[in-house]
Amino acid sequence: MTTITDLVGIKSELDALATSTKSAQQLMAGIVTLLHDRLPKYNWVGFYMMENGGESSMLVLGPFQGAPTPHTQIPLNEGICGAAASSGETVVVDDVNSDPRYLACSLETKSEIVVPIFAHGKVVGELDIDSHAPAAFTDEDRQLVEHCAHLVGDRLEKSGR
Ligand code: SME
Repeated sequence: MTTITDLVGIKSELDALATSTKSAQQLMAGIVTLLHDRLPKYNWVGFYMMENGGESSMLVLGPFQGAPTPHTQIPLNEGICGAAASSGETVVVDDVNSDPRYLACSLETKSEIVVPIFAHGKVVGELDIDSHAPAAFTDEDRQLVEHCAHLVGDRLEKSGR
């Protein structure tokens, strides 16, 4: 089981990653690897980034760890991913099979969290995590994943995006 102490340790490793990586892409690749490898209930961890802008915006799969997903592009009006990006709010779903918005990636997935990433006040992407455990994502998980999203948003702002 993951303890609060583990989460605090992971948070400082994430902060170290944010200073040691040379690009937003490297930072995102490091985050998905760290979260996936260190937190056993984080079975699929991936970024979706906003492309195009305006009404034709799409979420496009970025760095991820876990089984390949058929959902490499998601319109803003589809899925839990689309809901988080279009509302700008974190979405936590304890039982994906009872949520009509859910786009299935794996039959094993039971719960999901999606956290939007902001740069210059706009949603530029999101961090999506799936778990094989029902109701896997607690308030502590939410804080950790929101912290990751802030690190990436800050990096994108600094790199001029
Ligand atoms: N389940 C997501 C789609 C992406 S996969 O989880 C990787 C959704 O409902 O938007």
